[in-house]
Amino acid sequence: MKTPIDIAVTGAAGQISYSLLFRLASGELLGPEQPIVLRLLEVPQAMQTLQGVVMELNDCAYPLLQKIVMTDDPKVAFDNIDYAFLVGAKPRGPGMLRADLLKDNAEIFRVQGKALNEYASRRVKVLVTGNPANTNALIAISNAPDLGPDCFTAMAMLDHKRAIGQLAEKCGVISRDIKNVMVWGNHSCTQYPDLHHAKVKGLDALSLVEREWFVNEFIPTVQHRGTEVIKVRGQSSAASAAHAAIEHMRIWAHGTEIDDWVSMAVASDGSYGIEEGLVYSFPVTVADGRISIVKALDLNEFSLERLRLNEAELKEERQAVKHLL
Ligand code: NAD
Ligand code: LMR
Repeated sequence: MKTPIDIAVTGAAGQISYSLLFRLASGELLGPEQPIVLRLLEVPQAMQTLQGVVMELNDCAYPLLQKIVMTDDPKVAFDNIDYAFLVGAKPRGPGMLRADLLKDNAEIFRVQGKALNEYASRRVKVLVTGNPANTNALIAISNAPDLGPDCFTAMAMLDHKRAIGQLAEKCGVISRDIKNVMVWGNHSCTQYPDLHHAKVKGLDALSLVEREWFVNEFIPTVQHRGTEVIKVRGQSSAASAAHAAIEHMRIWAHGTEIDDWVSMAVASDGSYGIEEGLVYSFPVTVADGRISIVKALDLNEFSLERLRLNEAELKEERQAVKHLL
């Protein structure tokens, strides 16, 4: 039997976690041979709800689930963990922008960055899902100097999957037929879902769809999908967010396919002129647990303009939380 791996999930009593935890416990992240320990962090007021979720996890009798730790103390939650799903944060409601959440959520990531810095494994993989995810990840990075930015990412995978879903539907194919979609920038409505390098069954995606559809339907649909889900469902996306979180971490652990890339928000290394250090979504490949930004893609002026817009927005968000950095 392998040594168990510790996985922390924050916001464990919330709606995303209600999907995420059961899939983690069933082995979807690390496979059917790898036992896990779940370390669940919540605020004191949510402990009773979390107790109920833990009862349900126990009722599943998952063979891989070695132990569950429930706590309101980040030090206990992050003790020697290899994976951290930072989900715990307020979601937005109708009429709000994700950036409106900064005031309430930013402090959470200062505290958790510090705790990760002190207690997590030195090779921890951290995924920030709580919104606004990119800037929350920047705050966590700034407060975890001993871990370094490579340990941190923010989630663009839901946007990446949304883009694939829209393109597959338009072309009448399945998601497996689509490669090299990318989403640049911020997880906000300025994000730039880009099809200039995408392939559908090996053919250039933009040769199969009208430019008008790409610019006036595809891009805004993906950009505003989160808002639309809130409007239609009455609550922000949860099962799809949990799926994207597992996919992001699974790919970080096991690597990308040979002929494809995915979108992840990582600390910029200056690629494509994006200021170093900003947490920005790029097309990336992953091998041996290391994330590499795909370099030297040809970008036209249409794309570059959208990349810069995202950079400017992320700089504004950074300015708003400069006291936490
Ligand atoms: P939710 O309100 O159902 O759950 C959030 C949970 O976090 C609550 O149980 C709350 O008690 C807990 N929490 C708050 N502060 C905490 C702290 N300091 N430590 C630990 N737990 C804490 O919300 P949800 O629907 O699960 O969404 C969670 C976050 O994820 C929101 O910010 C939402 O906007 C974001 N989100 C991001 C994406 C993405 O693609 N990046 C997608 C969907 C949702
Ligand atoms: C999403 O994209 O669905 C999430 O970020 C939730 C939101 O606020 O839109």
